[in-house]
Formats: sequence, C-alpha cells, structure tokens
Amino acid sequence: MSQVPHHIAIVMDGNGRWANDRFLPRIAGHKQGVDSLNRCVRACLERGIGVLTVFAFSSENWNRPSEEVSGLMALLALALSREVPRLNANGVRIHFVGDRQRLSEKVQSGLAQAELSTAGNQRLIFNVCFNYGGRWDIAQAAQKLASRGEAITELSLDKAMALAHVPDPDLLIRTGGELRISNFLLWQAAYAELHFSDKLWPEFDEAALDEAIAAYLTRERRFGQTSAQVSGHDKSQIEKAA
Ligand code: IPE
Ligand code: IPE
Ligand code: MG
Repeated sequence: MSQVPHHIAIVMDGNGRWANDRFLPRIAGHKQGVDSLNRCVRACLERGIGVLTVFAFSSENWNRPSEEVSGLMALLALALSREVPRLNANGVRIHFVGDRQRLSEKVQSGLAQAELSTAGNQRLIFNVCFNYGGRWDIAQAAQKLASRGEAITELSLDKAMALAHVPDPDLLIRTGGELRISNFLLWQAAYAELHFSDKLWPEFDEAALDEAIAAYLTRERRFGQTSAQVSGHDKSQIEKAA
C-alpha cells in the first residue's frame, strides 16, 4: 500500500497510568490527554488523513469513581469552549458520536453548538466518541429500523449506525499496551488494520503516529480474497481477461 489511511480510529488509553507514574491525580492524566489529542489532530491534518475517530468516554466508563466521571465531563465542556475556534481555523468538522441522553443539558448544547459551528469545514472529519459503545450503536441502529418498520439487512443497519457519515476505519490504533477492543467500533472495525502501541496516550506523539501509519503501509488488505488476487497476479483472472 502506498497511500496513507483515509480513516484512522484511536482508543486513547493510558491517561490514568501516565498520571499515576507521576504521583498526580488521574484527572491530570486526562488533561494531558486533551493536549495529546490536539497534537494528534494537527498531525492528521499535516498528513492528509481524511477522518479521525477517537474513543473519549465509553458506555462502561460511568462505572469509574464519581469524581473521575465528573472531572471528565468538566474537561469535555472546557475542551469544547477552548478548541472550537482552532478547529474552525484548521478546517476541521467535529461530530460527537454516542448516547447524549445521559449527558447534562449544558454539555448536550455544547456538543450541538460545536457541531453546528464547524459544519461547513471539509479538511478533516473528527469524530469524538463520547458515551459510546459498539453494542449501543448496533442496538440503536436496530431500534431505529424496527421503529420505521424497515427490514434489518447489513446495508440498512450500516446506514443506521452512528458513523454512517464516514467510511469504515482503515487503521485502528490502541495506545496504552492493552490488546483489546473494549467495545469500540465493533461493527465498523470488521476489516480495520490493528496497531497496538505501548505508549500511554499522553505520550503518543507524531513519531508514534508515523510508526502506526508505517506499519499499516506494510500490510496487505485482502478483504477475504487471496494474496494473488489482490496483487493482480491471479493467473485464472489474467487468463480470463486475455
Ligand atoms: C483512557 O485512559 C481515557 C478514558 C478511558 C477516559 P484511562 O483513564 O483508561 O487510563 P488508564 O488505562 O487507567 O491508564
Ligand atoms: C477504553 O479504555 C475507553 C476509552 C479509551 C475511552 P478503558 O480504559 O475504559 O478500557 P478497559 O476498561 O481497560 O478495557
Ligand atoms: Mg484504560
């Protein structure tokens, strides 16, 4: 492969351990995580990535201590108010993906406002998955179809998913050394190339991103076909064409 991935998805993990290593409260790690995310958005813009999707808060993260949950909500509100002008200046369109109902009115209106004010931007689509779970997404898509009395097919479900506005991710990165999906993009990652980085999210810099992209570029994506078919060396196909 010679082209950079069009869509990169990231499980931004390791903020808590980064803070722990420095004898800081976990929320200090999340704050540093926001800085790392800003750097990542800039790096994606510079590298011509079309879509960046990040996992910021999972359906299961409500189970954390209440002060960490409220700290994360406050951080989201702060990041929204601070970063939107910069996103606009850089041509970034933001989408929030997830169940908004459990979020406060104030946060909900902040999300809607950020989406509206960046809606005209086209350089990079930036999906922030917040109160998101892959299982939630599949269930909400099925419910949507059922309520409209529509048949459930792969295509109709795909169109009802929360990420229907973008193609599936090409490269899925998880930082923080864990080798699991943790309920992220269960449907959409069917054919994503996976890359696991031992770097904690606050330390995930341009070089680490380039490493992930370089690893991606060495992969052969077969989508169920044989290597010979994909590389154009399939003799039966060549004979058929002659
Ligand atoms: C990821 O970092 C951010 C969120 C889940 C909000 P963690 O907070 O999970 O960091 P670790 O895994 O405890 O180090
Ligand atoms: C996944 O990380 C969710 C986010 C990065 C937002 P977690 O830290 O919550 O995942 P587990 O609990 O280790 O699987
Ligand atoms: Mg974690």
